[in-house]
Amino acid sequence: MGDMKTDQIQQSYYSPEFLKLIAASNGVRKLGPKEGRTRQVAGVRLTWKATGEDTGYSIGLYEMDLPPGKGIPLHSHPYAEVFYVIAGYTDFLRINANGQEEWVRCGPGDTLIAPINALHAFHNRTDKPTRFISSSVYYHEILLETFGKTVDVNDPLPSEQEPTETEADRYLQVLKDAMKIHAYFPQANSSSGLEVLRDIENRNSNSAETVHA
Ligand SMILES: [Fe+2]
Repeated sequence: MGDMKTDQIQQSYYSPEFLKLIAASNGVRKLGPKEGRTRQVAGVRLTWKATGEDTGYSIGLYEMDLPPGKGIPLHSHPYAEVFYVIAGYTDFLRINANGQEEWVRCGPGDTLIAPINALHAFHNRTDKPTRFISSSVYYHEILLETFGKTVDVNDPLPSEQEPTETEADRYLQVLKDAMKIHAYFPQANSSSGLEVLRDIENRNSNSAETVHA
């Protein structure tokens, strides 16, 4: 026969009435336009709309305003990333069945899915700004939080100047370091940061085929 007092306590701990009382971790809340933490990473800027802290460390959601000529080079990671374009046109790079680069142009209302370990890049190859949402797992947020810096969303973008060799090598080092957080940038194998940045710049005039599907 069990101790009657203990039995009673356990019953009250595990009773359906008690379990129903588990509180929500946070209240439901709204973020307006431009609200959220803004980070500047590798020459681009994103604003977190939902982070691991908000989502039980499951997903993160950011919004990016991408000026013409800017982008993130080809990379892959061991989790999926989904993009949804809100304004303008964002071009996404993929590798087709023949091993060739192919741009996929996405406009407002288009969704782009980068599955687990699929190489992808994005770039604004138009002359107007573009805005999109990216959603992925919390580990992706860690990748973006590890590099770059927090900025004010209203701060002017850094002026367009030719990068110095030191700046370019710092950029290359970010691509190399990303590997430690399981993001693979094929260009991390390059020996020159300037070469990598030149390649990204050439994306605007890249003659690789642009498809719309
Ligand atoms: Fe990605």
